[in-house]
Amino acid sequence: MPTPAELARRPEPADPRLDLLAGTIDLHHGRIRFVHPREPAALLYEDDVAADQAYPPYWAELWPSGIELAHAVSARDWTGTRAVELGCGLGLPAVAAALAGARVLATDRSADALAFAAVNAEQNGASIETARCAWDDPDDLVARGPFQLVLASDVLYGQRNVDEMHALLPRLVADGGQVWISDPERPLTAEFLAAARPHWASVQTSPTRLPKVWLHRLTRGG
Ligand SMILES: C[S@@+](CC[C@H](N)C(=O)[O-])C[C@H]1O[C@@H](n2cnc3c(N)ncnc32)[C@H](O)[C@@H]1O
Repeated sequence: MPTPAELARRPEPADPRLDLLAGTIDLHHGRIRFVHPREPAALLYEDDVAADQAYPPYWAELWPSGIELAHAVSARDWTGTRAVELGCGLGLPAVAAALAGARVLATDRSADALAFAAVNAEQNGASIETARCAWDDPDDLVARGPFQLVLASDVLYGQRNVDEMHALLPRLVADGGQVWISDPERPLTAEFLAAARPHWASVQTSPTRLPKVWLHRLTRGG
């Protein structure tokens, strides 16, 4: 057993959020430089005391769907488009959209995610806004809409998420606007798309550069 004096001398454990790796991803035009925590698994769950829940730090992972959505977004000129990213994590699609001219609001339930998204935007000379938003409490975000483009990557991984997306997306998208969701064949995604079809003017799926990651585009009539 350490003595009290030894305990007092013990160095503070390093914060794994600050142990960073740097990376780059290629876009259609140029590239994004970004940082992310080296060991997402070392991060603590985030407590939501009001909801009596703790959330895994999924925001800190470099998910293939995020990379592919950023790449797909970068194929177009989004000058003047109002865009929002839901569950932005490291914020790569948000940064890609901003570099392509969109006015982007990056959102997540995690304040740490928003800090990383903001740093990653800054590193690339992109300007984004950030806002904390949980999908089951979206009124402040809805009040900032509607948006012509809603981005989300790898968010359909639980029934609760799927239900919240069904309720939230129509409240965020402007008439004629689109939702772009990239997804790595999560088990609930087919069901999500089938349930969405009657409510959207079109639901289209296209491949990305990765065999198991797809881009789903929902267009609102109007
Ligand atoms: C699997 S990660 C994907 C992160 C990022 N979009 C990507 O592809 O790299 C899911 C993200 O959604 C966020 N998230 C999950 N549930 C949420 C909720 N109910 N409200 C807001 N954000 C949520 C998490 O914090 C996390 O950043």
